[in-house]
Amino acid sequence: MCGIIGYAGPLSAKKIILDGLAQLEYRGYDSAGLACFDDNQTIQIKKSVGKVTSLQSLCANRLEDSHCGIGHTRWATHGGVTVENAHPHQAGNVTLIHNGIIENYHQLTQEFHLEDKLVSQTDSEVAAWVLNSLYEGDPFTAIQKFLPMLQGSYGFCILFSDRPGEIYGVRNVSPLVAAYTPSGSMIASDLTALIPYTRSYFVLPEYTIAKLTAYQICLYNHDGKQITPEYSKVNWDSDAAMKNGFPHFMLKEIHEQPEALKKTILPRLVKGIPDFSDDGIPDTLFSECDKIQIVACGTAMYAGMVAKAIMEPLLRIPVTVSIASEFRYEQPLMNEKTLTLVISQSGETIDTLAAMRLSASMGSKTLAIVNVKGSTIARESDYVLYTHAGPEIAVASTKAYSVQLSILYLIACRMAYVRKAFSLEDAANFIQMLMDAIPSMETMLHQTKTIQELASHLISHSDVFFIGRNLDYAFSLEGSLKLKEISYIHAEAYPAGELKHGTIALIENGIPVIAIATQDSVFAKTISNVREVKARGAYVILITREHAHVDAELADIHIKIPEISDHFTVFPIAVVLQLIAYYTTCLKGLNVDQPRNLAKSVTVE
Ligand code: AGP
Repeated sequence: MCGIIGYAGPLSAKKIILDGLAQLEYRGYDSAGLACFDDNQTIQIKKSVGKVTSLQSLCANRLEDSHCGIGHTRWATHGGVTVENAHPHQAGNVTLIHNGIIENYHQLTQEFHLEDKLVSQTDSEVAAWVLNSLYEGDPFTAIQKFLPMLQGSYGFCILFSDRPGEIYGVRNVSPLVAAYTPSGSMIASDLTALIPYTRSYFVLPEYTIAKLTAYQICLYNHDGKQITPEYSKVNWDSDAAMKNGFPHFMLKEIHEQPEALKKTILPRLVKGIPDFSDDGIPDTLFSECDKIQIVACGTAMYAGMVAKAIMEPLLRIPVTVSIASEFRYEQPLMNEKTLTLVISQSGETIDTLAAMRLSASMGSKTLAIVNVKGSTIARESDYVLYTHAGPEIAVASTKAYSVQLSILYLIACRMAYVRKAFSLEDAANFIQMLMDAIPSMETMLHQTKTIQELASHLISHSDVFFIGRNLDYAFSLEGSLKLKEISYIHAEAYPAGELKHGTIALIENGIPVIAIATQDSVFAKTISNVREVKARGAYVILITREHAHVDAELADIHIKIPEISDHFTVFPIAVVLQLIAYYTTCLKGLNVDQPRNLAKSVTVE
């Protein structure tokens, strides 16, 4: 999603903005630009397609004396990747940058007769012209008239030509954080851009207007009354957001998983079983519900699929997993006895946020599982369980998946105990098995050689299948997403037992099939399915537990994970599947951390 940064202060605005945009590159983008007041107090705009380095070159030896400006990295929603469509957009006295989607921009174009004025294809430029038409010298009055006209989501940073040294910020759904720091006033789309300058920040409340100047930030609510920002402390440091010697953020974050799980699990164990008292979560939330609804997107949703396979046999209540962007339009069956689990690493995914709001409107209690403290989903949910993975910078989610699962396993265990499906001893044993999964992840982190050999076989193929049954199928969903989203190889996860109902027609000589067979209850059946694909020429990569008995000729590559309880194999398997995607992508020479077309947090619908 788009990256936003604004600065007003005694230092070089150009430098701070360009450094900040570089910090925000991980969000995914295709063009970048900035607007600064120059030493004549005139707004200068520089924009380029491609990477921030192109913008840096464009700005070389220019704007050296600027102390106020805004910068933007664009993830295209309306209009192609061109300089004209890059932000900032200037319309008369108004220069702005925007993250989000203005859904009624066509109507506004007609209403304000903008057809002949527009030089871009973007909704953001339309917004700039509308604001300019409302501006008569007072930014607040203009912005207050402007906001009710907009339908959709926005995070704006705005300059007015006759207000040098001032930045105005306002948001609805799209995130904006700000801080008055020793270096000056700053505003950004996420903390990563602020961390080098401060450890305190506040989230801009929706519809409030922030005015940033060199020496202060003032916040005004919709009726113009000044309000005090609520500052929070950053819960990770800039080192944590750096690569620490790894070649890519993704590999660093894969290796951080054992530590991330310990940081997420251990603070929530009392006498060896889960206890959410410190998170302010009452047991009644778990004892009084008769259904669980999980809403999430992408990897987070696949974590939900694993949770369903674990929870339903244990709790004997329905656990429904919905893709958030579908859930919103499904007219879901739920009420006040439904517990909604909202899973999101960023806490800003707009579809997941909207799904949570729909659940709440239907009377359901919402419990969010989020990694970014203070994010919108975390703030709006009834309850929140933070994962403690630290910043996840790579677009491909890895440690966030594992820590989300660890929280879901803790919830399953606590619910089983509270609902008398587990004795105290059962719960303690469950947690012991969860903790035993952590060293098994360490073991798989060192299986590099086998996995690199496997990756060398995948890179020459355009299609790869992942198959499994029951929990193994749930794991395979995440494995296929990981591989396709960074290596651009078309990967498909399929229930092993369903292959012969059509898809097996695609299996031909040499096609790679990654088969996961770790579940005792369906092991034999899965191995039969593996034989079926092998008989049709597949190149079989088989993942089992250490002591599984398999004919030597069945698998071309056999990866063995340590002997742990089969309901906990997702943790070492996640490491294997992540490393497969990682090394395949490296061998293809692609951008591991910032794959094409993708963004770290999808804040548009
Ligand atoms: C995962 O590798 C992807 N980057 C993507 O599917 C991601 O999991 C999804 O967009 C949800 O993001 P969230 O967890 O921040 O809500």
